[in-house]
Amino acid sequence: MASVAESLSGLDIAGGDWAASAPPGLRSNLPALSPDQVELAKMLVETGQSRVFEHWADPGVDDDRKKAFLEQVARLDTSYPGGLASYIKTARELLADSKAGKNPFDGFTPSVPSGEVLTFGDDNFINFEETGVKEARKAAFVLVAGGLGERLGYNGIKVALPAETTSGTCYLQHYIESVLALQEASCRLAEDGSGTQIPFVIMTSDDTHARTLHLLESNGYFGMQPSQVKLLKQEKVACLEDNDARLALDPSDKYKIQTKPHGHGDVHALLYSSGLLNMWHDAGMKWVLFFQDTNGLLFKAIPAALGVSAIRQFHVNSLAVPRKAKEAIGGIAKLTHADGRTMVINVEYNQLDPLLRATGYLNGDVNDETGFSPFPGNINQLILGLGPYIEELKKTGGAIKEFVNPKYKDASKTSFKSSTRLECMMQDYPKTLSPTAAVGFTVMDTWLAYAPVKNNPEDAAKVPKGNPYHSATSGEMAIYRANSLILRKAGAHVDDPVTQVFNGQEVEVWPRIVWKPKWGLTFSEVRRKVGSSCSVSQKSTLLLNGRDIFIEDLSLDGALIINAGEDAEGNSLILRKVTVKGRVENKGWILESVDYKDASVPEEIRIRGFRINKVEHLEKAYDKPGKSRLEA
Ligand code: UTP
Repeated sequence: MASVAESLSGLDIAGGDWAASAPPGLRSNLPALSPDQVELAKMLVETGQSRVFEHWADPGVDDDRKKAFLEQVARLDTSYPGGLASYIKTARELLADSKAGKNPFDGFTPSVPSGEVLTFGDDNFINFEETGVKEARKAAFVLVAGGLGERLGYNGIKVALPAETTSGTCYLQHYIESVLALQEASCRLAEDGSGTQIPFVIMTSDDTHARTLHLLESNGYFGMQPSQVKLLKQEKVACLEDNDARLALDPSDKYKIQTKPHGHGDVHALLYSSGLLNMWHDAGMKWVLFFQDTNGLLFKAIPAALGVSAIRQFHVNSLAVPRKAKEAIGGIAKLTHADGRTMVINVEYNQLDPLLRATGYLNGDVNDETGFSPFPGNINQLILGLGPYIEELKKTGGAIKEFVNPKYKDASKTSFKSSTRLECMMQDYPKTLSPTAAVGFTVMDTWLAYAPVKNNPEDAAKVPKGNPYHSATSGEMAIYRANSLILRKAGAHVDDPVTQVFNGQEVEVWPRIVWKPKWGLTFSEVRRKVGSSCSVSQKSTLLLNGRDIFIEDLSLDGALIINAGEDAEGNSLILRKVTVKGRVENKGWILESVDYKDASVPEEIRIRGFRINKVEHLEKAYDKPGKSRLEA
């Protein structure tokens, strides 16, 4: 049998010194490795990771597991911009900064950036919406849906959860139908009359990919062309076990590096490497919109926000909501460094107050005369101008400034409670932009724009009074409230809500008014379809499935469902028009409390704390061409 030295001499190993310092387990296995695998092993040894080979068995034992290990290393290496060596180097620097308690914003002074504050339904809002709808055919939509959703604790993927249980439409269906409605409306307005298919990208991860694909495939992509939808899977990153950034091995498998999600910031590098951005650019696209998995209100804010991007020519437009001082939501701030650097960026709420105090704002994070913080609350929905985005990514490859958040065992900060990893956030994209980049924000009312579902019922019930629950209960109720308020603004009389407690959370229960995105994409459209003498009582449910349904003079006290079909081309515009008039009265659909611990109730229902008992309703279907009238 050849000696290790003889075997090594046949390999192309630069210098060979590294192999001499490699653990015996690796040295004895080197002859069996391919040149690429040797390179990876060398990189690990040279970056101080010899420990991962210490337990390697003699050649012939566990060879498949060693191969799998090196395959995993290769994946971790290629999926990270700059490779694993660069990951380890950055990790060491960030871990040292974290140990030293260094503030990433040291030397920066915050001020309020320039942005647009919108009031729902006024002329300005309507103008922005109109522009946004026109621009939508030049936009691509990117849903980041790779998160684990640990706080929610739901067993399925979050995008499969019903956004509301009146229609049972899940988030993914709602998002796709919203994009399709925008596509249709935008193409109708196109001066050259050309059609387009708005690209829809979903970033998944190993935790969500297969189930997301299954949800799409088993539902015919919810009406979208499969070729319009592209799934990009993010990879996890290596875990680190100490301040030297030594890679953590999986406790249950010593031939595997432990990995964890890297955060939604991965979306930029993935989009860049996919080649999609250039394709979109060549096809005349101008905008990329990023959004998250469980915000049932978002598309009510999208048209106006896109209009703001187009009119103000923002390279980056962050959607925001009014923020109360010290509220647990990041603030969008302009940061100016003593050395002249500036950036407009999300500053996490726990960093904003100390930063303000350290830079001359003696009271820190406080409300101004409007009763809100002057720094708008970031809701992490971004609109980027495609051209400048591509130019920036050519420089960065889509790498986003990372952070590390180790949970230390004690104040000495020398060891961790459990392994950590680098993370990055998509909203940190502007950190590398030049000071001349047009980075702004659009503020909309929270009731219109933001109701994410992040917390499980137990944690939501513990949220201090006055703060948002961000639960499945509040996420659903927010949709009813928004739709009720929009109808009110459009001239209808909608009864006040009642207060009820579900899963320990006190919520406002408005009439359950739900419509398909194509019925009411913008405020003007809703206003056009609702007469001024309509009324809806608090106990009512109104479900509008179809585009051309005109609620002319309806008095509703119960449940009413109207289904207005379309032909195969989705052509309901001229073919079908339903006008609704008169009084509809029945026992309606009643909300009944359920206990979230009651395992006999499906999980997606019990996490809300209520289910809908469909006692009595009037349902009308209009699936024949022509004009129809429902006169009750
Ligand atoms: P969240 O902050 O809700 O995180 O992510 P999460 O991981 O889904 O949930 P928790 O923190 O474990 O409870 C915001 C958005 O970013 C996506 C999520 O799917 C969600 O749409 N995300 C998060 C990714 O796509 N990838 C990630 O690595 C993390």
